[in-house]
Amino acid sequence: MNEHLEDLFAFLRFPSISTASEHAGDVRDCGNWILAKLESMGLQATLHETAKHPIIVAKNEHQKGKKTVLIYSHYDVQPVDPLELWDHPPFDPVLKDGRIWARGATDNKGQMLAHLLGVEETLRRDGELPVNLIFLFEGEEEIGSPNLVPFIEKHKDLLACDVIAVSDTGMVARGVPTMGYGLRGISCCEVTLRGPSGDLHSGVYGGAVANPATAVARLVASLHDSVGNIAIEGFYDDVRPLESWEREMWAQVPGVSDEDIMRVTGAPAAYGEPGYSSAERLWARPTAEVNGLAGGYQGEGSKTVLPAEAMAKFSFRLVPDQDPADIAKKVEAHLKKHVPAGVTLEIEVGHDGKPYVCDPHSKYGKAGQEALKQAFGKEPVLIREGGSIPIIKDMQDVLGSDTILLGLALPDCQIHAPNENFWVENFEAGIKMNQVLLKELAKA
Ligand code: BES
Ligand code: ZN
Repeated sequence: MNEHLEDLFAFLRFPSISTASEHAGDVRDCGNWILAKLESMGLQATLHETAKHPIIVAKNEHQKGKKTVLIYSHYDVQPVDPLELWDHPPFDPVLKDGRIWARGATDNKGQMLAHLLGVEETLRRDGELPVNLIFLFEGEEEIGSPNLVPFIEKHKDLLACDVIAVSDTGMVARGVPTMGYGLRGISCCEVTLRGPSGDLHSGVYGGAVANPATAVARLVASLHDSVGNIAIEGFYDDVRPLESWEREMWAQVPGVSDEDIMRVTGAPAAYGEPGYSSAERLWARPTAEVNGLAGGYQGEGSKTVLPAEAMAKFSFRLVPDQDPADIAKKVEAHLKKHVPAGVTLEIEVGHDGKPYVCDPHSKYGKAGQEALKQAFGKEPVLIREGGSIPIIKDMQDVLGSDTILLGLALPDCQIHAPNENFWVENFEAGIKMNQVLLKELAKA
């Protein structure tokens, strides 16, 4: 484990923030570190240039008659701000209270390295792998994988496989192994509302021209009805209804009661679409979220200004069979229809990703469950995930293979937030799980 932790610490020291262009060199250095690690394991590894951050593919020697397993992961991370809320510098990992604290510790360097080290241990012990393995690692997941979709389309043959395994999701609670068989999709956009050509004195002109900040508030409010249903016309048209076996199964899953949600998030109440449990709201229902809202004076004290513009950033989490492009159109129509009088509206459509679901009871699903069971010593629970990994549905469409999601993140590991952390016990269990996984998939 000491050697493995050293590897993880080295991996975590790269500030591989994919969205920040000043870190492009760090993303590349991180990619080269992975390349060297893969080569040291005796795998055939190649770094592929893209328009932005490199993609890395590695393989063992493939043999006829063996199952081909693709393991996908990402080595980029989210930005670290607000930096002042971190107890330790985000790229100077520390081990404390059984956890490793650093940006990317859970999402996704710790989980990615568990894949790698599980393979390394198998190779050291057995000299070979029971499967034909393909590692596919990208540096752009946190920005919507813009270059990976064309890459998998171009390299269909190189990436052809029977099944895909990914550790980039969560466990419902500590010690409860969790297999994911679905992910929400996503559609993002940003709106800018403009009024007067410049900021105005709110006394001299207020009342005679519309206030863009008021207008953006009305627009945000128009997304939902008064009880929490999304009010965009046609939004729910393609939502696949929840199946009764899923409702029954999820009702038994620990860690997702309203009380759990309140405890983990610190929110004063659970809240969401009427008629659904928290688990159902998270895993099988779509959302409309405001991720950012700005306009007018934000400084100390008051300033009697009528701001010239205001903006909002939206993201919509989608479920099967909603289509991000179709949703983007419906959102645009809704915003145009509801923009208040007296301001102009500009919409910028952002990145998106399709929702994903597969059968958790397939032979590969069962192999994934067995690997989790042996690593954690407990029967796994089956869930869909609220988060998104856009490439998973594309791989299902392009490569024709399903993905089993073998998450090692815990609800309190603070991914995307200050003080991100990864439990060492999950790192260790993850390394073991990957060794069992290869064996189980080989015989599936
Ligand atoms: N690992 C997460 C996704 C995730 C987290 C899935 C927890 C399930 C449980 C991934 O790195 C991520 O953050 N994805 C982004 C994708 C987006 C930027 C297109 C997300 O979900 O916001
Ligand atoms: Zn993430």
